Amino acid sequence: GVEINKMLATTGKVTLDYGFGNTANCESNITYIDGGNGILRYRGYPIEELARESTFIEVCYLLIYGELPDAPSLERFTHVIKRNRLLPEDFIAFFGAFPSNGHPMSVLQAGVAGLATYYEDTLNPLDPDQLDAATFQLLGKLPTMVSMIAKRAEGLPTLYPDSSRDLTEDFIRMTFGLPYQSYDIDPAMVRALDTLFILHADHEQNCSTSTVRFVGSSHANLYASVASAIGALSGPLHGGANEAVLRMLIQMRDTDMTVKQFVEKVKNKEEGIKLMGFGHRVYKSYDPRAAIVKESAHEVLSRLGKADKLLDLATELEEVALSDDYFISRNLYPNVDFYTGLIYRAMGFRMKMFTPLFAIGRLPGWIAQYREMIKDPATKIARPRQVYIGETERHYTSLRSRG
Ligand code: ACO
Repeated sequence: GVEINKMLATTGKVTLDYGFGNTANCESNITYIDGGNGILRYRGYPIEELARESTFIEVCYLLIYGELPDAPSLERFTHVIKRNRLLPEDFIAFFGAFPSNGHPMSVLQAGVAGLATYYEDTLNPLDPDQLDAATFQLLGKLPTMVSMIAKRAEGLPTLYPDSSRDLTEDFIRMTFGLPYQSYDIDPAMVRALDTLFILHADHEQNCSTSTVRFVGSSHANLYASVASAIGALSGPLHGGANEAVLRMLIQMRDTDMTVKQFVEKVKNKEEGIKLMGFGHRVYKSYDPRAAIVKESAHEVLSRLGKADKLLDLATELEEVALSDDYFISRNLYPNVDFYTGLIYRAMGFRMKMFTPLFAIGRLPGWIAQYREMIKDPATKIARPRQVYIGETERHYTSLRSRG
């Protein structure tokens, strides 16, 4: 590889690969995807087994340290994350600087970048203790921040973390509970959300994770790198798809457009409309996460007794698309976020909160990939080349002569 690169550089030639569809930027032993056969494994463990049997906190440990924890390690890990959940009190005022209806992803991105100002002794990624400290700050504080943003958008009082509760359960309590009022949490809901976090926890070199590696390759601190990843995740072609899918379904319902009419619009690429929640750069078969989410959507909705016309619409949309030549010939299947929004909505989350939920799930993956990148002696600053297609040399003329 080095020799080829040297040769390309000295001859002025470079490979042109839009979107890095065929270019690896690293070696990694975190996540394996076989896109042709719909296989996803974290550290070798199939996603189906982890979703069924593990917990999000265990998966965080697995991604970051490479092994499933034994009981004492899990207890220590959980304890240290719980200890880091409180936001600095004067930091909370920071949320007030934004309009309460501002998009939560923008507030979250700014909030995560801003955390660095409070923890200046955790910013050096080359110092393993500092990197551990930043890791725990983020794992502890990101869910707290998301629940506070949700509360502020509703104009409701925020709650502080409660260390006696498990992390996902307490995230739900902080998001939906109120001070001095008991809040009954359905364990099945906690389990369903925890499983969704597991499904989102890592996905090798996707757009936001590559962003973490890109930004971190300059030795920018973990907060700055994760904040950049949150920006990348917010786009509708990436994490923002979960919100976009629901908006698409609602629009179809409210305009009485039939599924067939909508699919025709997509196929004709009218106004650049896409079937949101469909398609993937790597999966050319059914996304294994989507299969699990689809099952969970039916379970959660029937458990909550929330018949949702939108779920019927989504199911019909999938059926029509999967039997249509346009989608078959392009290998377009539902991705992880085709059904997630329906579950989040049934749980009571507002649409704008869907992508921040994805961010909570993806955080351990971003951190694990950042740590792998920083430790890898082969890492170089990310600096892609380009193929210049602009003007050749020309010469300056005065403004007067340009008329
Ligand atoms: N609806 C309609 N057509 C699509 C879709 C879609 N969702 N996705 C891809 N296509 C078409 C493209 O228009 C293209 O058609 P063409 O050959 O006629 O030009 C062909 O399928 C290949 O698609 P590309 O855009 O080259 O695929 P790419 O790998 O670059 O993009 C992406 C992948 C961004 C996920 C794309 O499928 C998409 O935009 N999907 C909708 C948004 C979405 O759901 N994103 C979430 C992704 S998963 C995640 O981040 C959680």
